Amino acid sequence: MIIYIDGKFYPEEKAKISVFDHGLLYGDGVFEGIRAYAGRVFKLDEHLSRLEDSAKAILLKLPWSRAEIRSAVLETCRRNKMKSGYLRLVVTRGKGYLGLSPDRCKKPTIIIIATKLELYPAKYYRNGLTVVTGATWRQSPAALDPGIKSLNYLNNILAKIEGQLAGAQEVILLNPQGLVSECSGDNIFFIRDGVLITPKLSSGALNGITRATVLELAREAGWIAREDDVRRYDLFTCEEMFLTGTGAEIVPVVEVDGRMIGTGKPGKRTAELMHLYHQLVTTTGTKIPR
Ligand SMILES: Cc1ncc(COP(=O)(O)O)c(C=O)c1O
Repeated sequence: MIIYIDGKFYPEEKAKISVFDHGLLYGDGVFEGIRAYAGRVFKLDEHLSRLEDSAKAILLKLPWSRAEIRSAVLETCRRNKMKSGYLRLVVTRGKGYLGLSPDRCKKPTIIIIATKLELYPAKYYRNGLTVVTGATWRQSPAALDPGIKSLNYLNNILAKIEGQLAGAQEVILLNPQGLVSECSGDNIFFIRDGVLITPKLSSGALNGITRATVLELAREAGWIAREDDVRRYDLFTCEEMFLTGTGAEIVPVVEVDGRMIGTGKPGKRTAELMHLYHQLVTTTGTKIPR
């Protein structure tokens, strides 16, 4: 594995950053998880745009242009001979000193890792996931806006551990108003009376790129698809449910907090969307140079 750090490529065992990097010390930084399929990087510009927004929101000035980051990502894919796989693009505040203040971090650190990722074994795509609602809330935007894809994922990790302790594959986070927000690393969708619904971004859900793609695919296919306030009750009584994320893609859910969803098997419309999504990811995207 060849890893990109600050303009240079290193073999994995030599890819190192300072122990004084504020990304490590304080989770002070932003990141993106990106996928490549069949020699193309899917929605690369959408990911770069979200990275820029996250960086701006935490007052981290990116010293590289969009084009420079884009070509570093593509070159990392090329050097790793990656056709299909997972990319992790990380930008930290950079090397500073102990103490919270970022003013001693003179330049951000950029890291690109190209690897494989299997978030869920294949059986869950066939049979569906079991999810539970966690006691850990999605953090309030008044504390740290969940729209920022920051390196500080403790809110999500604590919720994830709760889900695992309960024997579930994923965990639902409610926002401080008690409305459904999202899962620890995925957005939530469900179908009720034939309408596709996902929680509004104001619920604290990340502006998922897969989420936007699924809304677009559904509308193109002539379905009614909308963003709404979502209660647990809506999930308990829905016909079909699934989660979306770059890593997970579209994964069906068949049980929520002990309530069976639909027939207890992945739904037909979920399968239809999974098919449309796979068609799209394998036929679009930014070509990786040879
Ligand atoms: C908290 C959270 N929600 C949702 C998502 C899904 O977002 P995307 O579809 O852009 O990968 C992710 C993954 O990045 C995430 O970490």
